[in-house]
Amino acid sequence: MTTARPEIRSEYLEWAKLRSSAKFNLATSGLDGFPLANLPVKIEDLEISIGGSYGYPPLQERLARKNDVSPDCIVAANGTSMANHLAMAALVEPGDEVLIEQPAYDPLLRVAEYLGATVRRFPRRLEDGFALDPREIERHLTARTRLVVVTNLHNPSGARTLDSRLHLIGEIAQSRNAHVLVDEVYLEACFDSQARSAFHLGSNFIVTSSLTKAFGLSGLRCGWIIAPKPLAERMWRINDLFGVIPAHVAELLSVIALDNLQQIEEYARTRLETNRPILQQFLASRRDLFAMPAAQGTTAFPQLASGHVDALCQLLREKYETAVVPGRFFEMPNHFRIGIGGKTEMLEEGLRRLGKALDEIAS
Ligand SMILES: Cc1ncc(COP(=O)(O)O)c(C=O)c1O
Repeated sequence: MTTARPEIRSEYLEWAKLRSSAKFNLATSGLDGFPLANLPVKIEDLEISIGGSYGYPPLQERLARKNDVSPDCIVAANGTSMANHLAMAALVEPGDEVLIEQPAYDPLLRVAEYLGATVRRFPRRLEDGFALDPREIERHLTARTRLVVVTNLHNPSGARTLDSRLHLIGEIAQSRNAHVLVDEVYLEACFDSQARSAFHLGSNFIVTSSLTKAFGLSGLRCGWIIAPKPLAERMWRINDLFGVIPAHVAELLSVIALDNLQQIEEYARTRLETNRPILQQFLASRRDLFAMPAAQGTTAFPQLASGHVDALCQLLREKYETAVVPGRFFEMPNHFRIGIGGKTEMLEEGLRRLGKALDEIAS
């Protein structure tokens, strides 16, 4: 008898792809598109095909240098999305337990389910600034836990976890023979020298990331996994069943982007440093929202003090042409997520409209 694989779908991604767009779009979590025209690209630099291998060496080298690891530890992937899938597929067998933070980025949960894992959760709490609590993780580990999954910065809240705490989490997981997967796609948006990959914190750390969120380069799908060499090789083999080889044009453009990352970083940093105080000021001005200060990253995740977030989102979209992400996609229906990676004028107007919608539901 065969058992059918359960249908797994990410309602969040369906919503994000089909129903999130709006004139004033505060629903995105990354920087909006860095223009191709701003990259020093000549048509002669591009080519369509190259013999397939396990990684395009110039890209492998740059990703390795960026992360201060050996190229053998880098697995290039189609965005952090495929990176997460490959990492989990290499680490998890059906029936294993995977312990995932709550609230979480929905596809992390769905990938673990798709792989046949038993998904367990541990909380990150608003009252603790959504901090990762190693003791909370320890309490939820069992003999069957093979993997602990966290995001740093945290999506949706933007909370940052420092290395000392992650290190402790690594030790706790290690004592149960579990790995720790850290999705660092938003850590890139910290732009500081302390933002070093958690891969360096212990042999049981696996890290995923991409150029998507911090640099506005989503369309390149330049993602990667950092893993110890034997696991990295396993992930390359699994990728043979999925993407096999990436679009070579995207690899070449990713190399150019990485060679010009400082310039792109300037653009991104300026945008975020301009937009963050605007959001902070807005949040501080609202008594109907509870939120921790948006100290870093690209998102905030306020709680609505009273009333229904779904009703707020509907009003906001229908009357005020503005979108935020309803918290139900992060299993916290009293919250919503605001992204600050868009153009400053759009953010200002979107927040002004959000304020009007909040006033309207309160009256
Ligand atoms: C935590 C997290 N990981 C991964 C992704 C997907 O990133 P990418 O575009 O690199 O696939 C997202 C996108 O929202 C995310 O929030």
